[in-house]
Amino acid sequence: MTATAPAGTSSSPTPATPARRTSPLTTALAQLSSAVGLLGYDDGLHQMLATPRRELHVAVPLRRDDGRIELLSGYRVQHNISRGPGKGGLRYAPGVDIDEVRALAMWMTWKCAVVDLPYGGAKGGVAIDPRGYSPAELERVTRRYTSEVMPIIGPERDIMAPDVGTTEQTMSWVMDTYSVNSGYTIPAVVTGKPIAVGGSLGRATATSRGVVHATAAALADAGTELSEITAAVQGFGKVGSHAARFLAEGGARVVAVSDQYGGVHHPGGLDVAALHTHVAETGSVVGFPGADALSNADLLALDVDVLVPAATEDVLDEATAATVKARWVVEGANGPTTREGDQVLADRGITVVPDILANAGGVVVSYFEWVQAQQAYWWTEREIEDRLEQRMRSAYAAVAQRARAEKITLRDAALVIGVRRVAEAHQLRGLYP
Ligand SMILES: NC(=O)c1ccc[n+]([C@@H]2O[C@H](COP(=O)([O-])OP(=O)(O)OC[C@H]3O[C@@H](n4cnc5c(N)ncnc54)[C@H](O)[C@@H]3O)[C@@H](O)[C@H]2O)c1
Repeated sequence: MTATAPAGTSSSPTPATPARRTSPLTTALAQLSSAVGLLGYDDGLHQMLATPRRELHVAVPLRRDDGRIELLSGYRVQHNISRGPGKGGLRYAPGVDIDEVRALAMWMTWKCAVVDLPYGGAKGGVAIDPRGYSPAELERVTRRYTSEVMPIIGPERDIMAPDVGTTEQTMSWVMDTYSVNSGYTIPAVVTGKPIAVGGSLGRATATSRGVVHATAAALADAGTELSEITAAVQGFGKVGSHAARFLAEGGARVVAVSDQYGGVHHPGGLDVAALHTHVAETGSVVGFPGADALSNADLLALDVDVLVPAATEDVLDEATAATVKARWVVEGANGPTTREGDQVLADRGITVVPDILANAGGVVVSYFEWVQAQQAYWWTEREIEDRLEQRMRSAYAAVAQRARAEKITLRDAALVIGVRRVAEAHQLRGLYP
């Protein structure tokens, strides 16, 4: 869904490339400071929690299809491995840099702890716009990147999954490269891989299902439900497209969606299944018949009940947060709200279901996939979906309960729970030597 640009001629929409004003790492570190303050930890522990355990910066030389050589930059960051192996996605996007990967790795640490998975947090990325490369070129990039980071990844060390710009095919190439170099097939080195090579039923849609479980739980806290609300979803990729679908299937009226090329709006509700077909045919939601065009900025400011940012970081900053009319913001993306944006939303009484809780469904089913691969025994879709819902509901309940008890936001409550679990593991293990 992500590797194609919209079909068409010169009238194809141009992708939005917003200037980045806040670094995601600034946001992640400010969130950590807030949690550390609430937990009363000392500077030494704070520093340990703020600092990645291990970082690898690799050069990824690529032979283009026309014979030219291009040199790309790649990263793998393991933020914390006190609770288990590193776990986190692999991102292919032009703006990927070390600070973005550090922030994403840190969020993975807290996320895995909030949903109580036996993992630490990690993330990887290559600075590349995958839409400008052929499948053969992307395969070569993936195989070279994998062989460069091979010393620090593995089913017991650090497990990758798809993220922005990567797909289950990418995971298949990572798994194959790792396995060929090890001499036998090791499916548990990645999650989010195709079913045919040891993937899990339900993984492809797990993040989106989790977003909708978290939405339903937040609505229930306010005495309402999906069938009574309107929603807008920013981003129509792996997370946003299925979140829109499950929201609609749950009875919500999804009135607007967008991608990097623009958005579409229909006050009566979009036909999300038909939108999926339109995107498969054209590469974008833009031009969906029967809907009005809408910019991403207008989507964020739409008069809806639930806003789901499911695209990229920093879209809700101080200025855009002031325009939000939704009552709930459910973060499908990682880091869509800056610290200043968060404050504005809190001051305006808007409930934010934070990323480390709302989009944790993907890593929950990644964990199920890893467990299944380790046992070579696969579960049914029903088992996976029931266990996912149970995990999401109980994680939401614990976070909401803490937020109520301490009169703090859901974000601070989720961070306090996640950070405390990681600090506890770190303290119990002690310092070596
Ligand atoms: N894939 C997962 O399982 C997963 C799990 C947890 C969190 N996330 C997070 O969810 C977000 C989306 O990931 P994904 O896997 O769906 O990626 P994706 O590449 O499949 O889709 C990204 C979508 O966002 C759109 N987009 C990109 N830049 C945009 C912009 N500036 N404005 C509007 N739309 C824009 C793209 O057009 C695309 O529709 C990321 O923050 C990712 O880290 C993903």
